[in-house]
Amino acid sequence: MIVTIDGPAGSGKSTAARKLAARLEFPYLDTGAMYRAVAYRLIQLQANLEDPDAISKIAAEANLELDCGPTYTRVSLDGHDVSEAIRSFEVSKVTPCVAHNQVVRDLLVGKQRKIGQALGSLVTEGRDQGSVVFPDADVKFVVDASLDRRADRRFQELMADGEQVSREQIRDNLAMRDSGDAKQWAPLLNPGESIRIDTTRMTIAQVIDRLVQHIEQIRGKV
Ligand code: DC
Repeated sequence: MIVTIDGPAGSGKSTAARKLAARLEFPYLDTGAMYRAVAYRLIQLQANLEDPDAISKIAAEANLELDCGPTYTRVSLDGHDVSEAIRSFEVSKVTPCVAHNQVVRDLLVGKQRKIGQALGSLVTEGRDQGSVVFPDADVKFVVDASLDRRADRRFQELMADGEQVSREQIRDNLAMRDSGDAKQWAPLLNPGESIRIDTTRMTIAQVIDRLVQHIEQIRGKV
């Protein structure tokens, strides 16, 4: 069974996907981590972020490996685990250069499909999982929340990591990423094809209960 969870940054999709995967005992694939890992490599190499060909070449040469378990996706670059390092605000600021590069997207989509084929069952999370990567997924969720709620969540996460960043900077970064994402690939799901959940006023436990309820209904029908 393939379960996709798509939504913008801070919508709660990562926590929801990880906890749902744990509940179902399925591997969890965090596809944002792949875009982040390429961004991390660009920063390491001080690449020219204005040069799409240089970016796609670096992405193609990066030895990116993923290890997906029921509660984690670990990412390594050339044998070094970068799973924590890719979470910084600096990396978040560079990821749009990666995400907007179609050559890199095609490369990462290919890797994601291969992982899906190899694992058979998984909970996968991103922006384009139900629309582009796994159009035949068994269950497709879209989670969202208001921009202010999402900025609050990201701010708390980054504060906990000791980052020096203001809530306004995060809100602006999210708004900028939303407009880029929405124009390019986010809204490709047809009405009725996905289950939409607004997490603005929901606790994570309520979100998980809702996801599990839908999966049980679908499993009951199979
Ligand atoms: O979900 P996240 O914040 O970790 O995602 C990091 C970046 O990667 C963000 O700019 C959106 C982009 N992304 C994407 O374009 N497609 C995906 N499937 C996942 C993430």
